[in-house]
Amino acid sequence: MNSVKIGVCGLGTVGGGVVNVLARNSEVVCARAGCRIELLEIGARRDNPDCDCGDIKINRDIFAVANNPEIDIVIELIGGTTVAKDLVMQAIANGKHVVTANKALIAEHGNQIFTTARQQGVTVAFEAAVAGGIPIIKSIREGLAANRIEWLAGIINGTGNFILTEMRDKGRAFGDVLAEAQALGYAEADPTFDVEGIDAAHKLVILASLAFGIPLQFDKVFTEGISAIEPVDVGYAEELGYRIKHLGITRQTDAGIEMRVHPTLIPEKRLIANVDGVMNAVLVNGDAVGATLYYGPGAGAEPTASAVIADIVDLARTLTAEPAHRVPHFGFHPDQLNHVDVLPISRVETSYYLRISAKDEPGVMSDITEILGDNDISIEAIIQKEPDEALKHSHGFIPVIILTSRTIESQLDSAVEKIQALPTTEHDIVRIRVETLG
Ligand code: HSE
Repeated sequence: MNSVKIGVCGLGTVGGGVVNVLARNSEVVCARAGCRIELLEIGARRDNPDCDCGDIKINRDIFAVANNPEIDIVIELIGGTTVAKDLVMQAIANGKHVVTANKALIAEHGNQIFTTARQQGVTVAFEAAVAGGIPIIKSIREGLAANRIEWLAGIINGTGNFILTEMRDKGRAFGDVLAEAQALGYAEADPTFDVEGIDAAHKLVILASLAFGIPLQFDKVFTEGISAIEPVDVGYAEELGYRIKHLGITRQTDAGIEMRVHPTLIPEKRLIANVDGVMNAVLVNGDAVGATLYYGPGAGAEPTASAVIADIVDLARTLTAEPAHRVPHFGFHPDQLNHVDVLPISRVETSYYLRISAKDEPGVMSDITEILGDNDISIEAIIQKEPDEALKHSHGFIPVIILTSRTIESQLDSAVEKIQALPTTEHDIVRIRVETLG
């Protein structure tokens, strides 16, 4: 049996998981790869007490791994976009294949990395960069290759989903749940990446490139986090038969491609509405297959290691294949990439949940509905609540909840501006986008 020699850089949550799973499952992994996979060297600035490295050489200089002439595949698990980028570029320059779990690196620098990798005849594999243990990249790139992907929508940040679930089910405070997600190793080094949607935006950009064969365009994603979600909206959404989930959505329309990450009301009967805790799920709609759903753990040491090691096995199988015969990075041949416009959020069409704080007096409701009508926005549902002392604006104001039909965001913006200017409403109208995902 031949052997493929690998070096792991980074021994944090994911690096430790990779070393442990490789050691535990070496027999089955090698049987699948058709060769021995030898972990020759680990580059890590510090040890990981949860990981038994046995007699594997540990080097405090991670670049020594990228420069080790015996190593065929460098596994980049240090995260971030500075040192990690230099490390990956160094490995590629040395003619080594790379496996990475680094979504920020791929989303922000992937175009350059893949171009250089192609020039060097090497592959950069990144299954673990999106949705942890779910093989979503392979599914879109290979399993759905027959389809025109029409849209996809995913819960692609485990920490955010964990926070929303705990707030809804147990009434826990945002900060408490976030601290627990950090302790469990789910959250990013900078947890604002999780709660403000940046981590999900990194993953969405990668999914959009795979789905539509477009270059990575991280700067074009509309991103809104979960930090402004208030428990009252979770409750009203439930009364209307919806759940609030933090979704990444990308869709091909006649006008261009939508890429957006934001809290979204989705009907509670949809399977994806019931994906709770740290679990991730991605719903992909292809023209031939219809809707398909991929579900599983989106973060954590061993689920992410599962995806990293699958990439190692894939690479080990194709190491001897000519570069042109390997699966292209996005599944589309590089000269067949699409250069379609990505739509700004103002041109996106969707439905909306609005919570308006309005004076409890005659004529207010008709003023609001008239403004919506003048902007061609129909109302699907409306609830006028009793004054709620728990709400910050309870003195003489009542919450009015409106679900609109589909409309272009710029039209909604203009209606919201006019409603906010009414002397009978308060200024901060809450707006959450709604998708039926049907
Ligand atoms: N912080 C990420 C999450 C880790 O919570 O989903 C996996 O990418």
